[in-house]
Amino acid sequence: MSGGGLTRATAFAPASVGNVAIGFDILGFAVEALGDRVTVARSGTPGVEIRAVRGVAGELPRAAANNTAGQALLALQETARPEFGFTVEIDKGIPLGSGLGGSAASAVAAVVAANALLAAPLGRPELLTCALAGEAVASGARHADNIAPSLYGGLALTVGIDQPRVKRIPVPDDIRAVIVHPHMFLATSDARAILKRSVELSDFVWQTANLAGFISGCYTQDLDMIRASFEDVVIEPQRQALIPGFQQVRRAAMDSGALGCSISGAGPSMFAWAESRTAAAVLAAMQSAFAAHRLGTDAWLVGLGSDGAHLVEP
Ligand code: HSE
Repeated sequence: MSGGGLTRATAFAPASVGNVAIGFDILGFAVEALGDRVTVARSGTPGVEIRAVRGVAGELPRAAANNTAGQALLALQETARPEFGFTVEIDKGIPLGSGLGGSAASAVAAVVAANALLAAPLGRPELLTCALAGEAVASGARHADNIAPSLYGGLALTVGIDQPRVKRIPVPDDIRAVIVHPHMFLATSDARAILKRSVELSDFVWQTANLAGFISGCYTQDLDMIRASFEDVVIEPQRQALIPGFQQVRRAAMDSGALGCSISGAGPSMFAWAESRTAAAVLAAMQSAFAAHRLGTDAWLVGLGSDGAHLVEP
């Protein structure tokens, strides 16, 4: 993420799985296998001009304030006050409405590329705050569960919003993540709108225990604890009806030896964690279960130690 006065730079930011079942809006992991690239160049015209959007996302808003990358760059301009404007080209590698953190990746790649143009580059915490402003354009809320892993890599926990603190959580070496994207669109804002505003006390206790168990299991390499706590009792029950075949896909993953399986972010993609010896079988089983519901899929099997966003040019 080095920088310093370039006139043009391109950054890659990875996709991500938000929530990771038990950490709604606060926990996520990076998926380096796909991502967005954003090129930012200095412009004599103040503000942010989006010149091109290419790739798998179809039509995205071109007005900077309505575009996740554009809004993130406006926030960066507010913070860093450069003497020049930005022109922006976005290459989307993450399908829109897939639940794989596409809006976050565009915002993150944009601020990482723009940072390289600044004479005095911002630090990662400031970039995170700018990217959060961009993410909010797409989902209607500020949450860092996709932004933080896309920027920092790996499994990332974020505490706080106005002054967010990010902690990378160590994941046992042998764990792999399986991600399966069914070919359908689900708007994050719609998947958030259906959520109840309150939580039963007993569910609060259960979910809190699961989050604590999961994080402690990661730190202590305790796969049994990770498996036992890998269950979302608050959000998943409300959202699963939005995903055709959800129960069957989850069951297929668990029967194939997964440590856990849930919705990726707001969906419709689903993910599982598994030990390396079972991960390929988990992936195949999840794809078959979606196929039984007449849904084609793309799938990835990845590690959990990736580095997060970085410059690719220069
Ligand atoms: N935490 C978010 C949600 C991720 O589940 O709504 C999607 O942006």
